[in-house]
Amino acid sequence: MNILEILKSKEFVSGNTIGRFLGISRAAAHKQINFLRQIGYTINSSPKGYALINDKVLFNEYEIECNLKRNLKVCKILKYYKELASTQISVKNLAEKNFDEGIIIIAEKQTNAYGRIKRKWNSNEGGLWFSILLKPLIRPEESSKVALILSIALNRTLKEYKVDSEIKWSNDVLVNDKKIAGILVEMSAGQDRIDWLVIGIGININNNTLPKELKNTSISLKEILGKEIDRAAFLASFLISFENIYDDFQNKGFSFFSDEYNDKLAYKNKSITIDDGYNIISGINLGIDKDGKFIVKTTNGLEKIISGTLRLNQ
Ligand code: BTN
Repeated sequence: MNILEILKSKEFVSGNTIGRFLGISRAAAHKQINFLRQIGYTINSSPKGYALINDKVLFNEYEIECNLKRNLKVCKILKYYKELASTQISVKNLAEKNFDEGIIIIAEKQTNAYGRIKRKWNSNEGGLWFSILLKPLIRPEESSKVALILSIALNRTLKEYKVDSEIKWSNDVLVNDKKIAGILVEMSAGQDRIDWLVIGIGININNNTLPKELKNTSISLKEILGKEIDRAAFLASFLISFENIYDDFQNKGFSFFSDEYNDKLAYKNKSITIDDGYNIISGINLGIDKDGKFIVKTTNGLEKIISGTLRLNQ
C-alpha cells in the first residue's frame, strides 16, 4: 500500500495510522504528505487527521499503483518522470546495466523521442509515453511477435473503453483510420538468444495539441471519447492485459493470437506496399500466418515478411 491508497481509503487518516501502515514515524508520514502536496494534491489537515480532496485527476506512479490494486508478475518497477529525453533511451541504459525484466519508465513529456526508423515522435504533456524492459526466452527472429501481441493488448484495453481499434501491420493501432498508438521494439541479441527487448509505447490520450501536420493522420482517446481520460487507470488496464497476453505467449506460443490479430487487421485484402528496409513489396494484404509472418500476395506468389512499413495503395 502507498500513502495515496491509505488517504483514498478513508475520509480522515491520522499521521499515526499512516505511519503504522507504512512502517514509518509520524514525522516521516508528515513529510510524505507534504511531498504529495508539492506534486499537486490538496490535502487538508485537521484534528481528525489528513483528508485528501479529490478535486483533480493526477498522473504519477502512486496513482498507477492505486489503480493496479494487485502486484504484477512481470512489470514490477514503475518509474514516472516529469521530463526525459526519451523513455526508450533511459530503459536501454538500464538494459545495458543488466537490470531485470519488468522495469517501466514513464515520462510526462519527452524532448527527444523517436519512433520506428528513427522518426521523430511528438510527445507533449497529456499522452502516455513509456518503455518496458523484457527478456523473453525466444529466438531473436521471434522478437517481432512481441510487438504483435502488444498491439493486441492495446486493442483489448481500448475495447474496455468501448473503443474499437484496428491494427495496421505491424504494430500501429488505429481508430477511425487514424493512428492512436505506435509501438517500437529495440533489441540486443546474440546468435540464438535475446539479451533484452526494450519496447517503447506511445499512446495519444489527452494530448490534443497534436501538431497541424499530424491532425489528419493521428487521433487521441480524449478526442474520441470527448473527455479527459485518467491515464493511470488506462495504463493499469493495459499492463494487466499485457501480462495475461505475455503469459499466454510464453506458454502457448504466438499461434494462440494469430486469429485475434487478423480479426483486428486494417486494410485486409487491400492493395498495399511494404518497405522492409531492403525491398519494396507490393501486393494484397493477406494478414499474418500462425508464425506471425505477414503474407503479401504479389504477382510472383506469396511473400512472407517479418517487419517493415506498410502503406495503403490508393
Ligand atoms: C512508432 O509508431 O514509430 C513507434 C512510436 C514509439 C514512441 C514511444 S513513446 C515512448 C518511447 N520513447 C521513445 O522515444 N519512443 C517510444
